[in-house]
Amino acid sequence: MDSVLAVGESAPLHSLKVPASQAVVELSIVVPTFCEAENVAVLVERVEDALSGHRWEIIFVDDDSADHTAERAKTIASQDQRVRCIRRVGRRGLAGACIEGILSSAAPFVAVMDADLQHDETLLPRMLEQLESGEIDLVAATRYAGEGAGAEGLANARRGQLSRIANASVQRLLSMHLTDPMSGFFMLRREIVEAHADDLCADGFKILLDIVATAGSRLRIAEVPYRFRPRQAGESKFDTRTAIEFAGLVLSKLSFGVVTPRFLVYALVGTTGLGVHMLALLGYLAFDGNHFAPAQLFATGMAITNNYVLNNLLTWRDRRLRGWQMVRGFAGFCLISTAGAIANIGVAEWLFAQEPKWWLAGFAGAVMGAVWNYSMSSRLVWQSR
Ligand code: GDD
Ligand code: MN
Repeated sequence: MDSVLAVGESAPLHSLKVPASQAVVELSIVVPTFCEAENVAVLVERVEDALSGHRWEIIFVDDDSADHTAERAKTIASQDQRVRCIRRVGRRGLAGACIEGILSSAAPFVAVMDADLQHDETLLPRMLEQLESGEIDLVAATRYAGEGAGAEGLANARRGQLSRIANASVQRLLSMHLTDPMSGFFMLRREIVEAHADDLCADGFKILLDIVATAGSRLRIAEVPYRFRPRQAGESKFDTRTAIEFAGLVLSKLSFGVVTPRFLVYALVGTTGLGVHMLALLGYLAFDGNHFAPAQLFATGMAITNNYVLNNLLTWRDRRLRGWQMVRGFAGFCLISTAGAIANIGVAEWLFAQEPKWWLAGFAGAVMGAVWNYSMSSRLVWQSR
């Protein structure tokens, strides 16, 4: 009878930690995909060859690619229990996809790797060995140090240059000791991501950089060199927005999370709004130079419309509003902007009364307005954090 549990008591099963050597799956390989239908089957085959004798699984995390990548991956998964696929709808983003994939794993070790065969899968056993030794927490594959390293696969010379500049600035700004902090190929103890999941940034491309910057100096890191291969099928998703998001991630880490990548894109949109405002004002006054107030009102309306459209396209592109939602969102955005303008003027006037410096009062008012607009639009119009 004493083996029966009383109500409310629970078996201590979950507190028993399974040693890594006995886990059903030793290593989960998280592979973010966006339009990689032609690559998934080849990748599974190559990983299978590379990791024979190990207990591994592949978790594809697909953002609802139009080329049916998820369907392909699930067809493989239906015949091979080592393959899984998470299909995310209504969301986009490499880093976010990686975090979700890692958090869906129960293996002691996880790797992140691209689907397009640019990363050298034959490195996986060596990386795993280093982690299993217990002396290392994270192994990053590097294109920039050690024998056999190379970045030939970068789409073009400009990408190569950009990558090196970004590298140098990150090392300096965040005082990191990774030779390739932008690498999208690494392996680590899953616990590390579990512990910091809340502080990682789901926007952007640079998940390794984020993990190392967040988990800090406590991590014991090793690097392994590899040659970054040219992409096989499909095309790179790297674009201007990705570059801006990257700058945003660095700022965000430097400002301890105050300035987010999304806010940076928002600020850039606001800057274009200022340009639109001045142009509209100029245009209106050329047409009717006698009335300033209606001209200013007209210019404000144009700037708000410009900001709304661009924010919907860029800042919140992962939550883009369409059709009627877009009209409703616009009404909300106008109300928030009006309240923001009132707050802006209020703060500026109050400050000017305390300290009559026009530039200080003006600047503080504008910042106040921008922060208000951002946080309210974020919550009420696009409903994100
Ligand atoms: N789920 C999801 N969502 N996956 C994505 C998304 C997205 O929004 N964007 C890209 N991916 C996937 C791609 O399908 C691919 O498997 C991987 O992420 C890398 O994307 P690429 O578009 O191939 O990027 P790249 O080759 O230009 O960049 C690579 O090199 C960089 C270093 O220069 C990546 O490895 C980066 O992580 C790395 O930083
Ligand atoms: Mn690629």
